[in-house]
Amino acid sequence: MNYKVGVISGDGIGPEIVNEAKKVLDSVGAKFGHKFEYTEILMGGASIDVHGVPLTDEAIAAAKASDAVLMGSIGGDTTTSPWYQLPPNLRPEAGLLSIRKALNLFANVRPAVLYKELKDACPLKDEVIGDGFDMVIMRELTGGLYFGERKTIEENGVMKAYDSLAYDENEIRRIAIRGFDIAMKRNKKVTSVDKANVLDSSRLWRKVVEEVAKDYPEVTYEHMLVDNCAMQLVKNPRQFDVILTENMFGDILSDEASMVTGSIGMLSSASLNETKFGLYEPSHGSAPDIAGKNIANPIATVLSAAMMLRYSFDLSKEADAIENAVKKVLADGYRTIDIMSEGCTQVGCDKMGDLLCERI
Ligand code: IPM
Ligand code: MG
Repeated sequence: MNYKVGVISGDGIGPEIVNEAKKVLDSVGAKFGHKFEYTEILMGGASIDVHGVPLTDEAIAAAKASDAVLMGSIGGDTTTSPWYQLPPNLRPEAGLLSIRKALNLFANVRPAVLYKELKDACPLKDEVIGDGFDMVIMRELTGGLYFGERKTIEENGVMKAYDSLAYDENEIRRIAIRGFDIAMKRNKKVTSVDKANVLDSSRLWRKVVEEVAKDYPEVTYEHMLVDNCAMQLVKNPRQFDVILTENMFGDILSDEASMVTGSIGMLSSASLNETKFGLYEPSHGSAPDIAGKNIANPIATVLSAAMMLRYSFDLSKEADAIENAVKKVLADGYRTIDIMSEGCTQVGCDKMGDLLCERI
């Protein structure tokens, strides 16, 4: 089969890691008889440099015309990059928010897995880690604070800024359904995270999640307040299977969850809508400080490509081949600098890509 893959290489380490992911995809294609056709799409700083805006209508059209989009990372150093002299709606991140909205990518799936080979990189104590953990954050991605009305005004000589957090029941229902669906394929446990002791939007969230839960009698579910969840993630991460939460809480908790695995450079993510289309990207950022040095870890992007094969193209054997190659390369003792430990062999970004290709 031929697949049309839109590619947003983006900024910082984006181009390097995407390059390796394409190499791995091509190896999979050669082995299983598929062809991946790539169309480069500009977004973020890379688009600002060419078009003056972080996302053009043409870029959105190109993404829509693709079967799926693979993305590296966008954004630069917020204190030194000229992109951050621009008004907020013209900065790199605005491109990412616009594409999420334009393609209705409301369901953001972020796995946080502790690889047993990388146990040493986990900052938690052995007795907390136990035999490891494997959770997924299901983050709502097109509503809440990120997309509510905002303004900055001056009142009686005092600056005042507003951001509003709104959800309607349909937005909550569709992400809750996704959360319970994914739980059915995993360990059948959903922890719905909110701040229902303070926020109206969270009280509605809770009510709708409870309604959805009725359709999934096999799934155990609980509600947890977001501050408690932040604590539980470091106290006992093994208790979680699927964390279901709104946009802003999911942004924060997914960084925390990935950090407790000790290997943010290993974690993939998928942003999905109601169709088979998805935008796949690593959970980490553009790391401008190490860009162009050939030391970035491409594995999160490679694993995002595996998620693309699994979710958008229904190619599960092929996705398994990528995931197994990653496990093999780790078992063989190869590490990029971010996950390096004693006795292992340190390799650069491109070498890691080659080693993965050899193991496909
Ligand atoms: C993420 C990022 C984005 C977000 C930024 C870059 C706008 O932090 O994908 O988690 O906040 O959603
Ligand atoms: Mg984030």
